[in-house]
Amino acid sequence: MLRPKVFVTRPIPEKGFEVVRDFCDVNLWPSELPPTRDDLLQHVREVDGLLCLLTDKIDGEVMDEAGPQLKVISNHAVGFDNIDVNAATARKIPVGNTPDVLTDATADFAFALMMAVARRIPEAERYVHEGKWKTWGPMLLLGVDLKDATLGLVGFGRIGKAMARRALGFDMRVIYYDPSEKASDPNLKASRVDFETLLAESDFISLHTPLTPDTRHLIDSQALSKMKPNAVLVNTARGPVVDPQALYEALKEKRIFGAGLDVTEPEPIPLDSPLLTLDNIIIVPHIASASKTSRDKMAWMAAQNLIAGLKGERLPNCVNPQVYK
Ligand code: DGY
Repeated sequence: MLRPKVFVTRPIPEKGFEVVRDFCDVNLWPSELPPTRDDLLQHVREVDGLLCLLTDKIDGEVMDEAGPQLKVISNHAVGFDNIDVNAATARKIPVGNTPDVLTDATADFAFALMMAVARRIPEAERYVHEGKWKTWGPMLLLGVDLKDATLGLVGFGRIGKAMARRALGFDMRVIYYDPSEKASDPNLKASRVDFETLLAESDFISLHTPLTPDTRHLIDSQALSKMKPNAVLVNTARGPVVDPQALYEALKEKRIFGAGLDVTEPEPIPLDSPLLTLDNIIIVPHIASASKTSRDKMAWMAAQNLIAGLKGERLPNCVNPQVYK
């Protein structure tokens, strides 16, 4: 019997890859770097399924190049702004993602980033490495406290709520902004506020919103100008939610205390980005979900979505269930 043909756009953890390999005829892009656009277009030709990463732009052109036999697109990520979901829906192709399994890893990391900025840990480490540590000092590298501070969450989905649970354990007050009516949790001591209130009242702001036309540059110079001077901004969502130039100006002029970015616009951040010249920012390479367990589960879940689609079954996690109507 003919095995379905699939293109996997990068090596993924074995926990998921072995499942794909057992069921499919796999063409694996072997490099650490993503396929170029031309490579992608060439390698999707005549595949039945595509397992892709957030670095692959999957639009109508890619789907058409693959051909009408393409049955499923499985993204190895919870976010899916790299995929033109409307184009997939129009072609009746289900799109899968990997929610839940990375929630705690991502919230842990966002919290770690928040604390590292608040207490200036990387800056202090550089201070030691540069031989500047001469004595204990009463005013050396002073940070800001979490206890009794207000954490403002932009987005109160799974990861936003996981952040709230952590923050409540640190005696923080939690407020959130989320336009979705469904975003609430009676078990969490967190109050819904409007965006302006969140900007004005938060000591820490953590972003947990998908990237959509409405959230692109949601944090722009206007939003930054409404934040407190001691505010810390953390972004583990998607880079373009923050305007990088506006953030640079706010940090440079010390209009906010600091920022922690797991994601940037663009990615990777160019080495000549002015943000890299600042001391009051921590930038890391999009690793919030990068725990071994979480990445194994993401790979496994992406494989389950892929195989369900190839079998003509409903994907366990489908972002466009309209295709089944
Ligand atoms: C996602 O899954 O969307 C994250 O950004 C990477 O894990």
